[in-house]
Amino acid sequence: MPALTSSACGKFILCGEHAVVHGQPAIALPLSSRRINLRVEPSILGPSGKILLSFPALGLDTEIDDLPENHPIFHAVFETLQVLGIAQKPSCKLHFNANLPIGSGLGSSAAMAVATIRGLSAFLGHPLDDLTVNQLAYECEKQVHANPSGIDNTVITYEKALWFQRGKEPEFIQTEIDLHFILADTGIQKSTRENVARLAQFREKNPDFVNPRIEEIGDLAKEARKALLYGDESVLAKCVNRNQELLRDLELSCPELEQLISIVLDSGALAAKLTGGGKGGHMLALVEADQSKIVLEKINQKGALNAFLTIVKGD
Ligand code: MEV
Repeated sequence: MPALTSSACGKFILCGEHAVVHGQPAIALPLSSRRINLRVEPSILGPSGKILLSFPALGLDTEIDDLPENHPIFHAVFETLQVLGIAQKPSCKLHFNANLPIGSGLGSSAAMAVATIRGLSAFLGHPLDDLTVNQLAYECEKQVHANPSGIDNTVITYEKALWFQRGKEPEFIQTEIDLHFILADTGIQKSTRENVARLAQFREKNPDFVNPRIEEIGDLAKEARKALLYGDESVLAKCVNRNQELLRDLELSCPELEQLISIVLDSGALAAKLTGGGKGGHMLALVEADQSKIVLEKINQKGALNAFLTIVKGD
């Protein structure tokens, strides 16, 4: 079997994280410049019937069976072999490399799953279609996050701007204008699984406080979708800023995120919020094209970690 490569992008959520777990719609965008890449090669001299893997960014150089049980790559291998009806593990090595930050709200677990499912199925001579890749990646996300909505695996599989609501067909959405965003890392890694569970408990104890906020986040996603369609950046900015206020009320922000948000807003960004699981991870800022470099420079001067600009091109 010849060596094969695959790749999966990261993602960021523009509007609606967490509320999407509770049935509200949300908008996710692909982060095509940040990816997880995989090269699968036959391991001719290696141990037979074993899958080895190296992933320098995670400090991993091991056998697939030695990964922790809730690791996305472990499940992606298992799901792929199962769906292809292959009982005996192929002798091969998975070489991962990534410029996508890991464990910080940008979809790394779903990207690992998608890259693995694509790469391994192609290596085995049965490349899986996107629908199956997405279904299997969702199964992996369930093992990793317990109660994922499915938004991360879907936007990453299809690598398109996505309107997502649990239990409904995903829709790909249009963006009328180019959108400029800055992402900056708080340096804090928090478990999405725990944050989702914490919000569910908060909701159970305080439904009168939590439910209206979750519903309002869903309304903001609807307004943001229209703003994208009409290219109205100022309405979009209002939605993003209000979304952050509601996420803060729901105790999903943290001082480090708030500090990054203040810096970018003081430096001329139109809007800013947390993106993904929250309580750490990445901050997302919406910026005007001609302001983007200035805001990026200011946030770098103030010591932000790994801040970068990303542009979502209009249709
Ligand atoms: C994580 O990227 C988004 C959350 O809404 C969880 C999920 O939808 O599965 C926090």
